[in-house]
Amino acid sequence: MSAPLLEVRNLKVHYPITSGIIFDRVVGQVRAVDGVDLTIPKGQTYGLVGESGCGKSTLGKAVLRLAPVTEGSVQFDGTDITTLQGERLRAMRQRMQMIFQDPMSSLDPRQNVESILTEGLAAHGIGKNRAQQREIIGETLDRVGLPRWALSRYPHEFSGGQRQRIGIARALALGPDLIIADEPVSALDVSIQAQVVNLLDELQDSLGLTYLVIAHDLAVVRHISDTVGVMYLGALVEEAPSDDLYAEPLHPYTRALMSAVPVPDPDVEDRRERILLAGDLPSPSNPPPGCRFHTRCPWAQPERCADERPELVEIRPGHRVACHWVNEIADGRIQRHEVTPELTKPDDDAAASAPTVETVHVP
Ligand SMILES: Nc1ncnc2c1ncn2[C@@H]1O[C@H](COP(=O)(O)OP(=O)(O)OP(=O)(O)O)[C@@H](O)[C@H]1O
Ligand code: SF4
Ligand SMILES: [Mg+2]
Repeated sequence: MSAPLLEVRNLKVHYPITSGIIFDRVVGQVRAVDGVDLTIPKGQTYGLVGESGCGKSTLGKAVLRLAPVTEGSVQFDGTDITTLQGERLRAMRQRMQMIFQDPMSSLDPRQNVESILTEGLAAHGIGKNRAQQREIIGETLDRVGLPRWALSRYPHEFSGGQRQRIGIARALALGPDLIIADEPVSALDVSIQAQVVNLLDELQDSLGLTYLVIAHDLAVVRHISDTVGVMYLGALVEEAPSDDLYAEPLHPYTRALMSAVPVPDPDVEDRRERILLAGDLPSPSNPPPGCRFHTRCPWAQPERCADERPELVEIRPGHRVACHWVNEIADGRIQRHEVTPELTKPDDDAAASAPTVETVHVP
């Protein structure tokens, strides 16, 4: 396996919840990311999945220093970037680019494609002159499968899939090593999704790129990922080589997520185990004690689950799971049971209330 390009250790992003009319008082924390370890070797793809609000985007942004790191470290190519400032941070950022979910809102509608793509080059001082910048942009358009005449057009003149190609070109023009793609195909028609995923795959092969691909849909990351990590309430609950995870998910939460993915074979589809999770994702400002999943887990046990937080432990080579009872569940000694959904009372405490734009201050 090649050397790691990205190593994230015990990463935490906590947003303070403040309240007060004259003086702000911190009354709680939104634990958006709460202790994540992950490693991505050079040239590989890590797929990060989990339901809405579990902290995927915050993790991606924290890696790029676009979200404040509360604790932990992010090593990029051997350098801890959590403390970098000024020119060194800017230089490192050029090597790490992001692709967003909705290309329409991430591309300025008043700029034509040439101006969108030149902006980043100018900001990072890439290309000696206009002619050289045009050459870089032209080559980048070829790579993403857009015609040169696209340069004079505006984002609204393109289809969703083409706009995402412009978003990819904008990231690519800077010559990055790592691309963080946050829900890169979620806003696209299913027929277009595969084209964009294939394009990312081809670009990785030809340019040796390393990817962190974020998605709420397990099917999207399956074929593109070497390793898949499953996140729940700010932490990883399972991580495994892609084929192993899809062949046999071991964590109860992953099993539930996987049970929602339809299988093309009608016989297998008929026999497919379906696990419907009771209740909503608890608030990251008031996470349950013990195993964070115990309030919804169909395998939860009276011992340990509610009071001891399980660590991510290697169960099989490269397959890590955070569950006290993973072996007993895997061999059938512990069976699934009904779960009574726990409702979050709105008046539980100040910290349990959903943060509003007015009360949450990002440092
Ligand atoms: N700037 C912020 N201030 C306070 N809370 C925040 C901020 N950004 C995100 N959060 C909270 O952190 C949690 C994780 O959010 P995040 O956007 O990372 O989730 P996600 O997994 O990307 O969800 P989705 O699939 O909906 O994009 C959410 O509860 C969100 O409300
Ligand atoms: S530790 Fe307990 S609650 Fe958590 S996933 Fe395992 S069985 Fe479920
Ligand atoms: Mg997100």
